[in-house]
Amino acid sequence: MAVALIVAAGSGERLGSGRPKALVPLAGRPMLEWSVAAVRAVEAIERIIVALPPGELDAAPPETEAVEGGDVRSQSVRAALRASGGGDPVVVHDAAQPLAQPKLFERALDELLRSGADAAIAAARVSDTIKEVGEDGLTVARTLERRRLWAVQTPQAFRREALERAFATASDDLLATATDDAWLIERLGGTVRIVESRPENIKVTTPADLHVAEMLLEERVR
Ligand code: CTP
Ligand code: MG
Repeated sequence: MAVALIVAAGSGERLGSGRPKALVPLAGRPMLEWSVAAVRAVEAIERIIVALPPGELDAAPPETEAVEGGDVRSQSVRAALRASGGGDPVVVHDAAQPLAQPKLFERALDELLRSGADAAIAAARVSDTIKEVGEDGLTVARTLERRRLWAVQTPQAFRREALERAFATASDDLLATATDDAWLIERLGGTVRIVESRPENIKVTTPADLHVAEMLLEERVR
């Protein structure tokens, strides 16, 4: 049976609300609870492990298991993975993406099994034109081909063995630079498949994002 790891141990520096971002109220409940509710509705997922900031383990919602997160996101994923026993596949999700729906988790799991890949990750087509700059940081070097670009989200579903190997071979320094877990699979030559998601599955980073998430969730509840 599958397990879900929800990482919620960040401090929410850029949101600036003076408390861990995952615990900030959002459309009537702590942000984390939106993700937990979505995961609970996925039949294939048997256990939910939540990585929380040290001293906040009491904030784990019912029917979830709390672990202490690490200094950087990947370390929180690693702590939750270790605590998750033998569940396979493993679905990793950020509490900072409270709009992810059960269907998206199911599609990631289905694609992982159907394709035989090591990972299947939610991502949205990019609608902006993206340019790459040179060493000086502000002179345009080239314009990327938009139809090949995807903005990566969570959930990300993994074969347990592939994810464990990726973490076992990554140093703490490397983990500190990883902004998503699929990259750890890519660097070992593993196969990562995209599951098309919508840009509305936003990641809450700033106060403006929180505002948008609030509007979208209130609309959904109505
Ligand atoms: N996360 C975590 N452990 C960390 C850092 C981040 O579990 N040490 C989680 C966050 O709780 C979030 C997700 O990883 O759900 C994505 O991180 P991010 O959006 O950067 O959240 P924060 O680190 O909390 O925000 P900031 O970087 O602004 O401090
Ligand atoms: Mg962060």
